[in-house]
Amino acid sequence: MHPETGYLAHTAPASDKPLPEESLTVTDNRTGKTYTIPVSDGTIRATDLRQIKTAPDDFGLMSYDPAFLNTASCRSAITYLDGDKGILRYRGYPIEQLAERCSFLEVAYLLLNGELPTESELDDWVRQVSAHTMIHENIKKFMDGFHYDAHPMGMLISAVAALSTYYREARNIHEPHIRKLQITRLIGKMPTLAAHSYRHSLGLPYVYPDNELSYTKNFMHMLWKKTEPKYSANPVLARALDILFILHADHEQNCSTNTMRAVGSSQADPYATTAAAIAALSGPLHGGANEEVLRMLDEIGSKDRVPAYIAQIKAGHGKLMGFGHRVYKNYDPRARIIKRVAEEVFQVTGRNPKLDIALELERIALEDEFFIRRKLYPNVDFYSGIIYQAMGFSPDMFTVLFAIPRTAGWLAQWQEMLEDGEQKIARPRQIYTGHEKRDFVRIEERAPGRMVRVG
Ligand code: SDX
Repeated sequence: MHPETGYLAHTAPASDKPLPEESLTVTDNRTGKTYTIPVSDGTIRATDLRQIKTAPDDFGLMSYDPAFLNTASCRSAITYLDGDKGILRYRGYPIEQLAERCSFLEVAYLLLNGELPTESELDDWVRQVSAHTMIHENIKKFMDGFHYDAHPMGMLISAVAALSTYYREARNIHEPHIRKLQITRLIGKMPTLAAHSYRHSLGLPYVYPDNELSYTKNFMHMLWKKTEPKYSANPVLARALDILFILHADHEQNCSTNTMRAVGSSQADPYATTAAAIAALSGPLHGGANEEVLRMLDEIGSKDRVPAYIAQIKAGHGKLMGFGHRVYKNYDPRARIIKRVAEEVFQVTGRNPKLDIALELERIALEDEFFIRRKLYPNVDFYSGIIYQAMGFSPDMFTVLFAIPRTAGWLAQWQEMLEDGEQKIARPRQIYTGHEKRDFVRIEERAPGRMVRVG
C-alpha cells in the first residue's frame, strides 16, 4: 500500500479500470505481468519495485544508482536548485538577494529556522553564537599535538570530533533544546577552531575570540591579530568574507550533506556527524577543489600557457578544477557573485594576477565544444580561492573557509532529517558480484598469487 496515495502497485492484467493519472504502468517481460506504480513529486518509491518478482521467493526488483545520479534520498525544504537555469534559493529566497542584503548569521538563522529573523531574534541569535566562540583550553593542547605542517582540514576534522568528548549530553539528539545548544556551539566554535589551526600552521600563538566583533570580523581577529592592542578588520574584506560565507552555507544534497545525513541517521552525536561531513568536504572533487584550482593556476603559470593546458585536459589528462557540477549544467550562480566580490577585494588587496589566468581559462573553455557538450561551467570553487589568496590565506586554508559556513547548512539538514518521520538509518542494498559459496582452503593447499579482482 503506497503510504502517500493509498493504492497498491497491482499485478492484475491491464483492465478497463481507469488508471490513476499519477502513475507508471510497467510490464515485466520476464513474466508478462503488468504493474501500476504510483508517481508522486516526480518520483516513484524504490520499494514499490520490490513487488515485481519472477517467483514467490524472488526478492523483487531494486533500483541501481551508483553515486545517486538519479535518486532522491529525502524531502527537504531548505535549499532549492535548478541546475539548468542556474537558480539557487535558501528557503525560497534567491541567493543573489541574500548575498546582497544579509549577514552570514542572518542566513544561518534562516537555514536553521526556515524564516528570516526579526531584529530582536537576530540580536538574540548573534548573542547566543557569540557566547559559544570559546573552546575548552584542553582543545588547544590537542591541537598543539599536530605536526607543524599538519593540513588545517585534518586538524579541523579531528578537533570537531574531539568536541563530542566535552559535551556528553550531545548524544541526546532527540531533545530539541539539546540539539539547539549543540548547533549554536558548533556555529560559534567553527571560526575559533579554524583560526587556531591556521595559527598553529604558522607557529603563532592562538588568539582568543573578541565577542564585541561581528562573526566574520572576530574570525579575522583570531586569524591575523599580532601585537596590536585591538585588531581592526578591513570592512571591505570583512564584508567580502561574509558574502562568501553566505554563498557556501548550503547546497541541497551534495556529497558532504549526504554524509551528514547518513552519519546522523545512525543517531551519532552532531560533533562526530559534522566531523564526518568535513571529511567528505575535504575531497578534491568537492570542497577541496578550491585549493586544487590555485595549484592548477600555479601550474599553468601564465595566460599564454592556457591553450596547452586545456589541450591536456581534453586529451583526458586530469580535470579542469573548479569547473563542472553534478547539478548545475549552467553557470553556478555563486561563481557569478564571487567574480563581482573579487573585484571589490582587489580594490583593497591589489589584483591577484592569477585572476587573469582564470579569466582566460574560462573564456577559452566556454567557447570549446569539449566543455560545451559536457555543460562544464565554472563552479563555486573556481574563483573563491583567488579571493582567499588575495586576502592572505594559504591554499590549504581554503576548504576550511568552505567548512565554516557549510556547518550551518549541514546542521539544518541534520535537524530536518531527525525530524522527518520517513527517515531511518541509512543502509543501501548492493548488487553482489563476488564468489558463490566455496569451502575453506587450508593454508598449505592455497595457490600463490591469488588476488581479489579489483575494479
Ligand atoms: C562542489 O554537489 C554540490 O553541490 C557540490 C558543491 C557544494 O556547494 O556543495 O557545489 C561544491 O563540490 C563543487 C564542485 C567542485 N569540484 C571540482 O571543481 C572538481 C572538478 N569537477 C569535476 O570533478 C566534476 O565536474 C564534478 C565532480 C564536480 C561533477 O562530477 P559528475 O557530476 O560526476 O560528472 P562526471 O564526472 O560524470 O563528468 C561528466 C563528463 C565526463 O566526461 P565523459 O566521461 O562524459 O567524457 O564531464 C567530464 C567527465 O570527465 N568532466 C570534466 C570535468 N568535470 C566533468 N572534464 C574536465 N574537467 C572537469 N572539471
